[in-house]
Amino acid sequence: MSEQGPFDAQRALRNVLGRFPTGVTVITALALPERKPIGLTVNSFSSVSLDPPLVLWSLSRRSPNLTQFPVGRGHVIHFLAEHQAQLAMQFATTRIDKFSGIDFEIDQDVDAPALDACVARFFCRTEAIVDGGDHLVIISRVLRFEQSERSPLVFYRGEFLNLGEPSAVDA
Ligand SMILES: Cc1cc2nc3c(=O)[nH]c(=O)nc-3n(C[C@H](O)[C@H](O)[C@H](O)COP(=O)(O)O)c2cc1C
Repeated sequence: MSEQGPFDAQRALRNVLGRFPTGVTVITALALPERKPIGLTVNSFSSVSLDPPLVLWSLSRRSPNLTQFPVGRGHVIHFLAEHQAQLAMQFATTRIDKFSGIDFEIDQDVDAPALDACVARFFCRTEAIVDGGDHLVIISRVLRFEQSERSPLVFYRGEFLNLGEPSAVDA
C-alpha cells in the first residue's frame, strides 16, 4: 500500500485545481530602483469589485519580484490571446530576460510596460496586499482598460488550449 505524504497531497491538490479552466495573464511592472521591466505569467486572476473597480491575483512568495508590487505601485495586467502561448511560457521562466524579442511600450499613467496584441489590458495600481499562505494576494485597482476582439488563451489541466470559434447556445 502506498503512503500519501505532504508532497503527494500538494500534487493531488494542484491536479484537482487544474480541472478548473482559467484564462492566462501576464502582469508587468518596472522594478525599482533601476526601472528594469519585469513580468510573470499568472492564472490566479479574478475579478473582485465593479465599484470600486478591483481585481486580484496571487504572487508566489518565492518570486524574486516579491517586493515589486507594493501598495500604490503601477502594473499592467494583460489577458493573453490564443496565439500567445509562447509568450506565456517566456514569462513563466524565472531569472531570464523575459522582454527579449518582445514589443512593449512604457505606459505613462502607471509607469509599467504594456505588451501588444492581447485580448485586454488593465492599467492598475496595487490597492492592498493580503497574506495568502505561500502566496501574497495582490488586490489591484483598475485605473483604465482596453480590449480587442481576439480570442483568449485558456489554461486547463497543465496545458494551453484555444477555444476555437464560439458556437451558439440553444436556449
Ligand atoms: C499558466 C501559468 C500560470 C501561473 N500562475 C501563477 C500565479 O498565479 N502566481 C504566481 O506567482 N506564479 C504563477 N505562475 C508561475 C510564474 O509565472 C513563474 O514562476 C514565473 O517564473 C514567475 O516569475 P518571477 O520568477 O520572475 O517572479 C504560473 C505559470 C504558468 C505557466
